[in-house]
Amino acid sequence: MMQDISLDMIGVREGTDKSSLAGDYLRHYERILGHLRDKPLQILEIGVASGASLRVWSQFFRLGTFVGVDIGESCRAFANDRVTIEIGSQADANFLDELAGRYQPDVIIDDGSHRSADIFLTFRHLFPALRKGGFYVIEDLYLQYGPDAPKFHTGGPTPAEYFAAVAQRLAANYVEPDCDPQIADLVQSVDGVSFIRNAVVIRKRAEDGAASALDDVWAVAEQGQQPLTWFHLSLSLIQRNDFVRAEQAARNAIRLAPGNPHFYARLAHVQAALGDLPGSVASLERSVELEPGNPGFQNALNYAKSQLKA
Ligand SMILES: C[S@@+](CC[C@H](N)C(=O)[O-])C[C@H]1O[C@@H](n2cnc3c(N)ncnc32)[C@H](O)[C@@H]1O
Repeated sequence: MMQDISLDMIGVREGTDKSSLAGDYLRHYERILGHLRDKPLQILEIGVASGASLRVWSQFFRLGTFVGVDIGESCRAFANDRVTIEIGSQADANFLDELAGRYQPDVIIDDGSHRSADIFLTFRHLFPALRKGGFYVIEDLYLQYGPDAPKFHTGGPTPAEYFAAVAQRLAANYVEPDCDPQIADLVQSVDGVSFIRNAVVIRKRAEDGAASALDDVWAVAEQGQQPLTWFHLSLSLIQRNDFVRAEQAARNAIRLAPGNPHFYARLAHVQAALGDLPGSVASLERSVELEPGNPGFQNALNYAKSQLKA
């Protein structure tokens, strides 16, 4: 029955080289995207060829719509009520910008020219159009190495090296001051970079979801009354410039654990942001009193006092 057939088996039936008989990407796509099977998601794929992967997506994602992009005019033949075909080159920045203006896909797959310069250009122009929380997949990275390299690797880091550099900084949650600014930006705008054999999967950050969930988090924090929850929630609110609630969260943490110097430092942070410099100094004095040997608290107190005088 259609319902029970896996994405990989659909791939075998339709003759795509993404199936386990060749590239073996489809079981990964099912793991990553399977939960969206009955959602009206949109996939934009660079590289149509014989239309095999578009047939696979159409059969698996029953409510999906698909955009196939290729340089070959003959690919127009694969258009139908759920498939749009766009003819143009992924080496053409203007064409990519037009696509980015027209579509906001949930998934973008680069299975086109496989030349590294095109891969990077396409990513730079299309990643901003990807929906928050969406996935960007670049296939066939092996072509950048070995005998294929002269044709596909056009210089500089390979895509695998480039995205490994992003992944490393994401995992460390640290970007060195002299880091390539494009890599530094990406670390901020992705939720994950994962490698599967021959491909990289980049997940765009889903921050809107997290922000709208904050009201729910507040309600649950009130039920739990855990000081650490209020402490962390206070920082999340600071990051969203919601300083009034951030102060309340910090005070809730202090009420539940009045001996923790970090909670006063957090309160001081919010008070400074709200322009209450005397309050900020008083809170930091409490942090220093509770943990006199901590240079971080002392430095913060010295700085707050200098601001108060200024
Ligand atoms: C590997 S095939 C795509 C296979 C298809 N995604 C599938 O799984 O059935 C690569 C396709 O990329 C197209 N292509 C090559 N260079 C391109 C470029 N610069 N811009 C857009 N498409 C390109 C080719 O015409 C070819 O049809």
